[in-house]
Amino acid sequence: MKNKNKEIVIALSKGRILEQSLPLLAEAGIKPLESIKESRKLIFPTTNPKIKLLVVRASDAPTYVEYGAADLGIAGKDVLLEAECKNIFELVDLKVGKCRLCVAKRQDTAELDKTAILKVASKYVKSAAQYFAEQGRQVRLIKLYGSMELAPLVDLADCIVDLVDTGNTLRANGLEVAETIREISSRLIVNRASFTLKREELLPIVRAIETAVENRKN
Ligand code: ATP
Ligand code: PRP
Repeated sequence: MKNKNKEIVIALSKGRILEQSLPLLAEAGIKPLESIKESRKLIFPTTNPKIKLLVVRASDAPTYVEYGAADLGIAGKDVLLEAECKNIFELVDLKVGKCRLCVAKRQDTAELDKTAILKVASKYVKSAAQYFAEQGRQVRLIKLYGSMELAPLVDLADCIVDLVDTGNTLRANGLEVAETIREISSRLIVNRASFTLKREELLPIVRAIETAVENRKN
C-alpha cells in the first residue's frame, strides 16, 4: 500500500452510527471542517490536517478498510459479522449503535417450534445460519435487504432475524422478540497493513478514541 505521506483515512458508517460516532470523534479531537449532515460531500478534511473522513454506507464500511482505501473505520458488529474480511482487526468497542440481534415472530402465533424446519428471513443470513446451526436447528434462510418485519406478516417466513433496540418497530408490526442472539455495538476497525505501516500515526488516534469511550463511562 502506498504511504500517501502518512495521511490517515477513517471510513464512517452513515446513518445512526454516524450521528453517535461524530461526538465521540470530536471528544478525541477529530472534527470535520464542515457539517457532514448538511453536506452532500463524501470526503471531509478535519481539524487534524493529517486525518480525512469518508462517509460510506453502513454495510460498506468494512470493505473500505479491508482493501486499504481507509486505514480505520467505524462499523456495526452486525455488519462485521456478515462481512468476509481477512485484512481487518477490531480494535475498540465504541459502545455506540447499541442494539440486539434477535429472532422475532408474530405476537399472535405460538412459540417457535425448535424441532421444526423454520423459514427465517433476514439481512443477517450468516449470523442467523450460525446461530441456528450451533443449536442443531435446521432452517431455510431467505435473504432480504430491509423491512424484514413484513416477512412473517405475509407468510414469507415463520420468523426474522433483525436488530432490535426499543422494540417499537416490532410492536408496530405485531411482532415480538422470540430469542436474543447477541448484543451489537459499533467497533473501531483497522486495516491490517496500515496497522503495521502507519503504527506511529495510528496509535495516538486509537488511544484518543479509546479514552473518549472510557470517559463516557464516568
Ligand atoms: P445500509 O444502508 O448499509 O443498509 P442501514 O440502512 O441499516 O444500512 P442504519 O439504519 O443507519 O443503516 O443502521 C446502520 C447500523 O446501525 C447497523 O448496522 C447497526 O450496527 C446499527 N443499528 C441499526 N439499527 C439500530 C437500532 N435500532 N439501534 C441502534 N443501532 C442500530
Ligand atoms: C433498524 C432495525 C429495526 C429497527 C429496530 O432499522 O432493522 O427495523 O432499527 O429499532 P427499534 O427496536 O428501536 O424499533 P432501521 O431504523 O435502521 O431501518 P432500516 O433497517 O430500514 O435501515
